[in-house]
Amino acid sequence: TFVVTESCIRCKYTDCVEVCPVDCFYEGPNFLVIHPDECIDCALCEPECPVDAIYSEDEVPKDQEEFIELNAELAEVWPNINERIDPPSDADEWKDVKNKRDQLDR
Ligand code: SF4
Ligand code: F3S
Repeated sequence: TFVVTESCIRCKYTDCVEVCPVDCFYEGPNFLVIHPDECIDCALCEPECPVDAIYSEDEVPKDQEEFIELNAELAEVWPNINERIDPPSDADEWKDVKNKRDQLDR
């Protein structure tokens, strides 16, 4: 499965959603997640993310591993998203910010 990690927080560009053949992205207030049981490992979304937030589960950086469980957990409660939407108006201001986990809204 593929996993959305920290750099998506407050960016949410949604280019990833547009290419997913099985519509397995789920949308929270300022972050997206992938449903691990629905993802077919096609890898199409990975290069689409402008902030490189998406990794294959076995390539998630060590300091991002908590996002594996977080994707699974939040995909069960957030609504599905299957079309690209406009990113937050201040998304570009957040794209290079590191350590923004405390910004995640559930
Ligand atoms: Fe969707 Fe493919 Fe990305 Fe999985 S790897 S989330 S199936 S686009
Ligand atoms: Fe997030 Fe990147 Fe998709 S910022 S919404 S994972 S395109």
